[in-house]
Amino acid sequence: MARALDLAGRGWGRVQPNPLVGAIVLADGEIIAEGYHAEFGGPHAEAAALSAAGHRARGATLVVTLEPCAHQGKQPPCVDQVIAAGVRRVVAAIRDPNPVAAGGAERLRAAGIDVEFGVLAREASALNAPFLHRARGEVRPFVALKLATSVDARIADRDRRSRWISGPEARDYVHWLRAGFDAIGVGGATARHDDPSLTVRGPLTPRIAPRRVVFAPALNLRLEAELIRSAREVPTTVVAGADAFQWEMGRALAAAGVELVPAESLEEALTALAERGVGSLLVEGGGRLAGALLRAELVDRLHWVQSPLWLGERGVPAFSGLPSLPLASVERWHPVERRALGDDTLLVLDRTCSPD
Ligand SMILES: NC(=O)c1ccc[n+]([C@@H]2O[C@H](COP(=O)([O-])OP(=O)(O)OC[C@H]3O[C@@H](n4cnc5c(N)ncnc54)[C@H](OP(=O)(O)O)[C@@H]3O)[C@@H](O)[C@H]2O)c1
Repeated sequence: MARALDLAGRGWGRVQPNPLVGAIVLADGEIIAEGYHAEFGGPHAEAAALSAAGHRARGATLVVTLEPCAHQGKQPPCVDQVIAAGVRRVVAAIRDPNPVAAGGAERLRAAGIDVEFGVLAREASALNAPFLHRARGEVRPFVALKLATSVDARIADRDRRSRWISGPEARDYVHWLRAGFDAIGVGGATARHDDPSLTVRGPLTPRIAPRRVVFAPALNLRLEAELIRSAREVPTTVVAGADAFQWEMGRALAAAGVELVPAESLEEALTALAERGVGSLLVEGGGRLAGALLRAELVDRLHWVQSPLWLGERGVPAFSGLPSLPLASVERWHPVERRALGDDTLLVLDRTCSPD
């Protein structure tokens, strides 16, 4: 299953809103074929692995990271292909909660195939957290925060400079990460100070370039900013209070090709983005927007890059305005990944723990 999960990850940036799925075919305890869902609309992982296995799939075990689907979509139902291939046993990490595709296990069992769930279920759920979030019927996008901080959790120095806290490996990681999200968001102050382009500039080209979203309630933006100037090439949204769009700046942004989304709160903003097709949002700071999202309990995942330096009390805090709760009542988040990125350290934390 660990191998199947690795394979599933190769679809990152290319398959959403479909899930990431990997599969292997085992005979006599040996891997005889592998496959993964590589492109939206293309063959599913099970079909890829079974076609690589050919006649050797007869009597074999199929290990797959998500329950095989039972519905006709852009591809035929996987369960029919599993049954036709003569597979004897299916080991799946988790069930498919999508009501349209569900029911695969029952169909397989009715055909006499052994079906087992639960192997590396937590890892499989973490891998597909945005997909599972949507399948649960949540009305807002899956929200992940990404911040690069000093050891003392500062995202910029006392002059508000943040380039570069983290090293080249961490920056490569961010370009890979962006490729798997529908939208990349920042607060108005970050748009003003850093003038970011928020595009994907790594070796992985996403199937659909993520939309850029600036949360700027007071519309305190510069028309010369990179995000605004390039709005006709890469879709760009500015979220602000409805009144703000009546001002001259609102009209100028619309004329520059920016999509204007009126919202009076972060909840309203996220719901409006979901209605416009944003199923997952990566927020890249700054600290005030990060703190506001955390206070409103609107963050599902944190990608925290910690760099080996200190910026002191006058540096810009990573998470502004969080309440100081007694230790006994604070919520603990759940680590889903820890690794080195050059001299920096990546920690990925989920707010809720996926089921085993
Ligand atoms: N190291 C990193 O990973 C990283 C990442 C990003 C930024 N940075 C640094 O962080 C600094 C900027 O961070 P910051 O904390 O000052 O500002 P910020 O979070 O980027 O922006 C704050 C602004 O976001 C807007 N906002 C929208 N909704 C909000 C809400 N509900 N609550 C609060 N604000 C909301 C407001 O815009 P209005 O101004 O329109 O009211 C507010 O002024 C810069 O120096 C930048 O270089 C570092």
